[in-house]
Amino acid sequence: MGGWTEGYVGGIDYIRAVYRDWSPALLCFALTLRGWRPPEALRRGGFTMAEPGCGHGLTSALLAGAHPAARFEAMDFNPSHIAGARRLAADAGLTNAEFLEESFADYARRDGPMLDAVALHGVWSWVSAENRAILLEVLRRRLTPGGVVFVSYNALPGTLVHMPLRRLLVERCAEGDGSLPDRIARAVEFAARLAAQGGGWFANTDGVVERIEQLRHKSPNYIAHEYLNGDWTAFYHADVARELATAKLEFAGAAVPMEQLDDLTLSPTQQALATEARDPAQAETLRDMMTNRSFRRDLFVKGGERLGPAERRLLLGETRFALLVAADDLPDVASTPVGRLPFPRALYHPLGEALAEGPQSLDALLARPALAAQGEDAVLRALVLLTSLSLASPVMPEDGLADRKASCDRFNAAVLDRHRFGDTPGQLASPLLGAGVPVSRIEALFLLAASLHEEPAAFAWRHLSADGIVLGRDGERCEGNDANRAELTRRHASFTQRRLSLLNGLGVA
Ligand SMILES: C[S@@+](CC[C@H](N)C(=O)[O-])C[C@H]1O[C@@H](n2cnc3c(N)ncnc32)[C@H](O)[C@@H]1O
Repeated sequence: MGGWTEGYVGGIDYIRAVYRDWSPALLCFALTLRGWRPPEALRRGGFTMAEPGCGHGLTSALLAGAHPAARFEAMDFNPSHIAGARRLAADAGLTNAEFLEESFADYARRDGPMLDAVALHGVWSWVSAENRAILLEVLRRRLTPGGVVFVSYNALPGTLVHMPLRRLLVERCAEGDGSLPDRIARAVEFAARLAAQGGGWFANTDGVVERIEQLRHKSPNYIAHEYLNGDWTAFYHADVARELATAKLEFAGAAVPMEQLDDLTLSPTQQALATEARDPAQAETLRDMMTNRSFRRDLFVKGGERLGPAERRLLLGETRFALLVAADDLPDVASTPVGRLPFPRALYHPLGEALAEGPQSLDALLARPALAAQGEDAVLRALVLLTSLSLASPVMPEDGLADRKASCDRFNAAVLDRHRFGDTPGQLASPLLGAGVPVSRIEALFLLAASLHEEPAAFAWRHLSADGIVLGRDGERCEGNDANRAELTRRHASFTQRRLSLLNGLGVA
């Protein structure tokens, strides 16, 4: 690789993933919850969004498919990322997204429309101070007043635990022969051997051994892009807020709605201590110290307008939600970053039943006696939790649904077709959510078989076996064609029974 990588890891692509964090309905819900007026363009679907450092561009491509009235600029200096993104855009017939092979500096020189939203995911902590300054200049110049920025970064103090580990990986990967993935695998195994001897930093630091164990199961692409960049900076929230303030940006709240609920993460004493902070940035930093947070997903607004309580309530009441799992599959207890939270049946059962009928606004839910009896705060809190845990999602307004559906159908047809070869973003675009819905390769092959009028188990097996994939059942390998086809027939029956109506309701099947 030449000098164009500017210290960023070269010679290995990033992982292929779609993120829901900055999908418009979710951004609007998170902003409204914190008492900010969500940008009208985002609410209505006619917005302009940029994703600098877009990786493979899968999130921007999916959002472009889901929002035909919006316009997307996604850029990355890695040509293989952009080549793949352009191929997907061409296959899906996207006319509202540009995928630019540019550095941040090239991009900063470009003129274009004002931006309603900018997503900086996996960028801020992994690039140089100079490149952060360039990105700030883009925000200063192109973010429209009222616009929103999503930014994720490694946070202090939680990231402290990763620092010696990164050092170890960087040094070990710089040595020896072989491809970068081989060197990464050897470096992780070496770290595991160091950890296994116990003692020292490994014995005295919570979470290190677990982190190394996790890394053994992560792809080299993830490890390279997380740990091996020349620049790797963890931030106190207050410092990020100060840098972004130079582009007139103000912290608007956590992008993950449940992270806005202090009582979920802090004890009453800790909450009281947070109120002693001098300003919101210090309060947020104190919260991170009290929870030892290592990663943040923040929203910032430029000239954001505050909502009064009545208007906030009105907007929240109008927000409609859809379930992302079958109502029967809602858990009794949820694992959250702060531990296990019970989902009381008296609340979640009627809520699940109501949402199983189709998307419902908070007001419509509260008109049901069983939910009214639980009280508005409890129902809203349940929606916040379900949304944050990807069990439910806010949805887009009815207006524009037909256009979104036609565009999503085109996008999804291209995506489903790719599942024949395993070359897949792993999500389909939902016109209802204006965001992605995860589907496994097998589910996608079943959907593709249906659209081609093929027998689903035989069709799926033809494509899976071509890739050397063998299925398992109850921990045993399925040996031979018949056993694999029988397993697929069984899985197809369960898919038809448990998943298909949900996917239909979300407009992706
Ligand atoms: C960790 S990845 C995140 C990708 C994507 N935003 C996501 O969340 O999936 C960071 C991306 O930023 C790109 N990048 C890093 N420095 C850059 C620069 N100076 N100019 C353009 N792209 C850059 C890398 O090529 C990489 O694809």
